[in-house]
This record gives sequence, structure tokens and C-alpha cells, in this order.
Amino acid sequence: MPVRSVSPLVDSRSNSAPRTELPRFECEQHRLTAMEAIRVGRVPLKFAYAGSAAYTHDAYARSAGYLSMLASARHEADALIAAGVVAAGALAVAEIGPGNGGRSRAFLSRLASRGRTCRRYLALDFSETLLGIACDRLTRFGGDRMSVDSHVWDIEAGTSRGVERWRPEAEPVVGCLLGHTLGNVEQPATALANITAALRPGDVLLLSVAAGPADESPQDVLAPYRSSQFRTAALQPLLAAGLTDAELEFVLSWQDGVVTGEAVLRRSVVLGDHPLPAGHRIRCFQSRRFRPSDVIGAVREAGWQVRDVVSAPGGSHLVVTASLR
Ligand SMILES: C[S@@+](CC[C@H](N)C(=O)[O-])C[C@H]1O[C@@H](n2cnc3c(N)ncnc32)[C@H](O)[C@@H]1O
Repeated sequence: MPVRSVSPLVDSRSNSAPRTELPRFECEQHRLTAMEAIRVGRVPLKFAYAGSAAYTHDAYARSAGYLSMLASARHEADALIAAGVVAAGALAVAEIGPGNGGRSRAFLSRLASRGRTCRRYLALDFSETLLGIACDRLTRFGGDRMSVDSHVWDIEAGTSRGVERWRPEAEPVVGCLLGHTLGNVEQPATALANITAALRPGDVLLLSVAAGPADESPQDVLAPYRSSQFRTAALQPLLAAGLTDAELEFVLSWQDGVVTGEAVLRRSVVLGDHPLPAGHRIRCFQSRRFRPSDVIGAVREAGWQVRDVVSAPGGSHLVVTASLR
């Protein structure tokens, strides 16, 4: 079988690029890091949201399959109010990983309907392209009642001064990490510590994670992931690296409370200067299910006082509210 050489693409376009564009990385730094990660066989999921992948995520995030895997935004907003840590009135919300902003809009709308209106909103994300998509949506939603700002931040790489520079003086900030994001990162404890260091004592953390027993049947757990839309979204960084869909088998598994998606090369390729053999495995998706004691322990360990833990109907999600000591 001949070996094919593949060459990656880097995005030089604006947020308004069409969704049908070729797979591209957001910038040269992303390309270099992702190419090395493909060779090593573990691509952090953050690359599946950046560059052209932001548009794939935008399309996928509007599908019923995606929404069925998350706690409802209404449930997340109600959990924050039930914890009794935000009084009625105006709120300043700093959301990490807003995705395409669709669920953020539903979340803010529910808070407003219950007397907590967000006046200042800050979106923070690894993906500058996705931030553009989310902020367009939230600016249309908020009109002149809510200011919308954004800041690029990789919560896995270190802390950020983004919240500090934006925050209203003397008012606490509600930091949100919704829709499984913590379960997607490589090291949740490190990400939580980086988030803690970006906030101040008195601030609130609203954290929504997937939960459930680690011994659930693979058939049940993996069923929502068996869609062509999910496959396309998960493979985006590999396609941006120049691999083709036909060269990749996509294999899902469920072990020790983690859903994993791996691409397996069907044939040998040369990536940059590096030959990769047929059968080379590249983990490009992961989603952890947290046990309540694990997520509560991790939040406490990061320096937070846990104020409330609410389980979604059916026990598939947990929403933790905490305040920074
Ligand atoms: C699973 S999506 C959740 C989106 C949205 N919160 C929702 O509930 O639909 C993960 C979000 O976190 C962002 N993200 C993933 N890894 C990140 C990282 N290391 N640093 C910052 N943002 C990250 C993604 O770009 C995306 O916006």
C-alpha cells in the first residue's frame, strides 16, 4: 500500500467564513501542537472547537443528539438560584467554554425570568472562532441590556487575567463551566486550579458535569455518540491536519467511567516528516462521568466551599454551586 503525504491547513479567515469551508486550524501554534499530538496519539479535545471546527461544533450543538447529552440550561440556572448564593438583581457572569452560545442564551434567559438579570457577560474560550460565534448570538440576545465581552483562554495551560481585567469593581462574579466541559479536559484538577486562580474570594462557581455509574452498559452510554454528526465533529483536528475521512476508522469505547473516541489509521501516511503506520491510534474525544464524591472533592480541593449539589432527573448530570473562600 503506498504511503500518502498529508499537509495541514491553517485558518486565515474571519468568523464569518462559511460552514462548508475546508477543515483548518485556527493558527500556526494550534497546528504545531495538534500535529505533535496526532503523532503521539492523544489530541486534546479543545482542538475540536477551534478554527473551522468551530463551525462544525456550531452545527452539531444545534442537533437533538447533542442537546440530549446535556443537563438542560434551565436546570443549571435553577440549581444556581436554589443554592441561595445570588440575590435577585443584576449579575456579572463569566462563562468558560460557552460553545456556540445557544445554551448560554437559554441559561441567561432562565435566570432573567427568575429575577437575576445578567448585565455584564464575559465569554472565555480556547477557540477564538467559537467565541466570535457565541458572542454574535449573545449580543443579539442581550441588546443594550447586557454588555458582551470575550477573551481567549486555555484553562488547561494556566490561569488568566481576563476575568480580573473585565470584572466590575466590588461585585462578585458568577463563573460558569457548563455542559460537560470539565469532563472533556485532560486533567480536570489542573483546569479547576487554573480557574480558581482567575477568580476572587466571594465569587461563585457553577459547574455542570455528566454523572452516572461507571458500570453502565456500553450500549446505553455510547448510543448518543453513534451519529455521523458527532463523528465529523470529533475528527475535525485530524482532517485539518490533512488526513481524510476515508483513511480513518472511528472507534468508541466506554471504560472506567470515561467515553473515549479514537481514530485508527486504515493505511500508512506521512504527517509532516513523520511516517505513521496503518493501525496508528489517535484518541481525539473523551468525556468523563463523575461520581458525586469525586466532583465535590475536586471542587473543595481547588479551594471552594461547596454550597449545593443538584442531581438532574435520572441522575445523569450533577450541578455543583460553590463559593470561593
Ligand atoms: C462541550 S463544549 C460545551 C459548550 C457549552 N458550554 C454547552 O453547554 O453547550 C466545550 C466548550 O469548552 C471549550 N473548551 C474546551 N477545552 C477548553 C480549554 N482547554 N480551555 C478553554 N475552553 C475550552 C470549547 O471550545 C467549548 O466552547
